Amino acid sequence: MAVWAVLAAAGKGERLGSDRPKAFARLGGRPLLAESLERLDGSDWIDQIVIAAPAEWEEPSILVAEEIVATKVHSTVTGGETRSESVRLALEAVPEDAAAVLVHDAARPLLPEDVIERVLTALGEDWDGAVPTLPLADTIKRVEGDRVVETLARDALVAVQTPQAFVADVLRAAFAGDLSDPTDCSSLVEARGGRVKAVPGDPRLLKVTDEEDLALVESWLEP
Ligand code: C5P
Repeated sequence: MAVWAVLAAAGKGERLGSDRPKAFARLGGRPLLAESLERLDGSDWIDQIVIAAPAEWEEPSILVAEEIVATKVHSTVTGGETRSESVRLALEAVPEDAAAVLVHDAARPLLPEDVIERVLTALGEDWDGAVPTLPLADTIKRVEGDRVVETLARDALVAVQTPQAFVADVLRAAFAGDLSDPTDCSSLVEARGGRVKAVPGDPRLLKVTDEEDLALVESWLEP
């Protein structure tokens, strides 16, 4: 039963303020993309990988794969205007007989093998999907403008990361519908009644948004 990974790397990453897309920001002397790609390629759980690359950065993405001697990269597709469009375009390269698809943000370079294991194991327990989650440290409030209107029950809330894993047919069906405004893949599956398991995530899966995040993740890299 083949497990495919989709690596969403087509974002512009404007908040990093660099002249290149975020996936090509330098992290420990290599493009950010190299880190998550190497971990997916080295994972015992993953069979094939499709990269969604920024337009005009398809070739450099292939070069990154070659530099790390990746053996599982099936193809690189040009990403879309939004993350979900990029994932949908990458899903088109995943064959019909794939059993499961794991979708990961290249912006989360440190990808622990045990998180991959946790989300994929859930699919074997009859869930439609699984997402890594972290408990919230802060109190969460709903606001309208600058007015606080509600304090939410924190014990019922979690922060959600990637990699997110899904039964391939379930994910494909979710992406066949309306893609306006989903914040992650799971929300599309949930909207169609899919059962998604929350499994423990990892603080090291921090999403790199600005220079400070980049420096923090760099400090966590193995020497
Ligand atoms: O912009 P943000 O950091 O939230 O993006 C999350 C992930 O989705 C990143 O890895 C980014 O490369 C990817 N993305 C994409 N296509 C887009 C926008 C974002 O693949 N159009």
